[in-house]
Amino acid sequence: MKRNLVYFQSLKKQSQPIVCLTAYDAAFAHCAAKAEVDVLLVGDSLGMVVQGHHNTLSVTLDEMVYHTKLVQRGNQQQAWCIADLPFMSDASLEQVLQSSARLIKEGGADMVKLEGGTRVLAFVETLTQLGIPVCGHLGLLPQSVLKKGYRVQGRDEAEAQRLLDEALALQEAGVDMLVLECVPSALAERVSKALKIPVIGIGAGVNTDGQVLVVYDILGLTPGHTPSFSHNFLQGANSINQAMTSYADAVRNRRFPASVHEMKA
Ligand code: KIV
Repeated sequence: MKRNLVYFQSLKKQSQPIVCLTAYDAAFAHCAAKAEVDVLLVGDSLGMVVQGHHNTLSVTLDEMVYHTKLVQRGNQQQAWCIADLPFMSDASLEQVLQSSARLIKEGGADMVKLEGGTRVLAFVETLTQLGIPVCGHLGLLPQSVLKKGYRVQGRDEAEAQRLLDEALALQEAGVDMLVLECVPSALAERVSKALKIPVIGIGAGVNTDGQVLVVYDILGLTPGHTPSFSHNFLQGANSINQAMTSYADAVRNRRFPASVHEMKA
């Protein structure tokens, strides 16, 4: 069944977690779609896990369009496909419109994702008025790594309140989904409850409306450091397909990330 925004809204109403996984090519996208993953995110994390860079900043729009095309070929109209707007492809309204149009028209994405709160509100309004579904991204923002580093966001009350306000403002501007990265689980729960749209967490605890992980992390393929909130689902599985199915089951039953430490034991 082709997933869509109405379906995700109904999952949120029924408190059924949405399963999201990154994908960068046709083979893994096909495998993930077969494993009933709901959302495939063509993340600019590909700069790190596929291209071997230290951060996501050098990823280009052409590369995002190329990888989105590959993913949509393997996905075969099953999972909902989100494509990231890479660093500096959303620096002005004109750029964000042109970049999003390419990801949708050439790449075949169903939705675009952009990082930030107040900075992107006007962009989100225009994109949604033009009929382009948008996913927001708050918390740890990998594209702001040079200024802020990789650290948990929203730890103190003032920062937490600002993040909640930005999430509400993004919803008001028109985003249909929000990724929340590396925030305390209590804050992620607060944001998920306050918003009508689905909130997908990564390193944000179990009480969000869904989970996303980097596919190379769940298969133990990431060179170097794997985030502590992730889990290698290939351990104990017979195939990549079984590992992805076990990730999807663990998210749907809220066994991941709740019992990630037990799973590691
Ligand atoms: O680029 C990416 O893979 C992402 C996820 C980490 C949420 O944005």
